[in-house]
Amino acid sequence: MQIVTSIAEMRRLTRDYARRGLTVGFVPTMGALHAGHLSLVARSRRECDITIASIFVNPLQFAANEDYARYPRTFHDDSRQLESAGVTALFAPSADEMYPAGSNGNPENFLVQPGPLGSRLDGASRPGHFTGVATVVAKLFHIVAPTRAYFGQKDAAQVAVLRRMVRDLNFDVELVACPIIREADGLAMSSRNRYLSPAERRDALVLHRAIGNAAMLYMMGESSADALIAAAQTEFALTPAARIDYITLVDPDTLLPLKQAAPGALFAVAAYLGNTRLIDNWLIGQEL
Ligand code: PAJ
Repeated sequence: MQIVTSIAEMRRLTRDYARRGLTVGFVPTMGALHAGHLSLVARSRRECDITIASIFVNPLQFAANEDYARYPRTFHDDSRQLESAGVTALFAPSADEMYPAGSNGNPENFLVQPGPLGSRLDGASRPGHFTGVATVVAKLFHIVAPTRAYFGQKDAAQVAVLRRMVRDLNFDVELVACPIIREADGLAMSSRNRYLSPAERRDALVLHRAIGNAAMLYMMGESSADALIAAAQTEFALTPAARIDYITLVDPDTLLPLKQAAPGALFAVAAYLGNTRLIDNWLIGQEL
């Protein structure tokens, strides 16, 4: 596996793949890799000739009060995992390479603004977050020029924002959303799970249990959003240490609330365990 830190060198590689007529699958990450990330790599390997991964903790998508400085950085371990997963090239630029004019707070920077979609769901509690995500992913798409790009459905709002960006800005890439990978006990895998104390780790299961409760009610024939949300809230009432950010039923493309559940609708939950914000969701009709 080739490790590439400069944009110029990455471009040379991607031009070479294009000349040779190879399809390129791309898996952008912020590192601290787990089986969720590796599932995206595996899918790309099945569907594309070449798989490129990136590791870049993007300062632009963290607010000042968030965890940019302490975000886990485990490059050595990550690159070993990507290599054994069969990644051809790992793009791992520095913040200066990606943002030579400075990243956070430089008012001169040109940004990709997602529009109202960027202020819904996680965007409502994390102002500016999806501008940071859209901007860095647009840059990565230009640098890597992938045929397909792989994202996890765990970050459902991110998928909605990026789908819309690809459509509205005519990116020549196929975006592939992949299922949520969970721990054996149901907790959705996340790089942020390592922040949790043992007690918080136990309480974190409330997200999956809450969604499970709503799902069970739906299977029994209930489709009112209010009833499903109330069922999820019941679980949270039993875990007072977890603080709900949102529990909602939305259209997965517009992220606007729905009154009635139906296949394809997105039931999504976000909650704080201590200072750690976790998210989870269920696309109705798919396996939970
Ligand atoms: P990161 O949180 O590292 O996630 C990288 C990719 O892995 C995302 O597409 C995310 O949805 C996916 N992922 C995370 N946990 C998953 C799980 N349990 N199952 C399946 N997929 C999972 O998301 C980002 O980085 C950044 O915002 C990025 C897109 C790289 C832009 O900076």
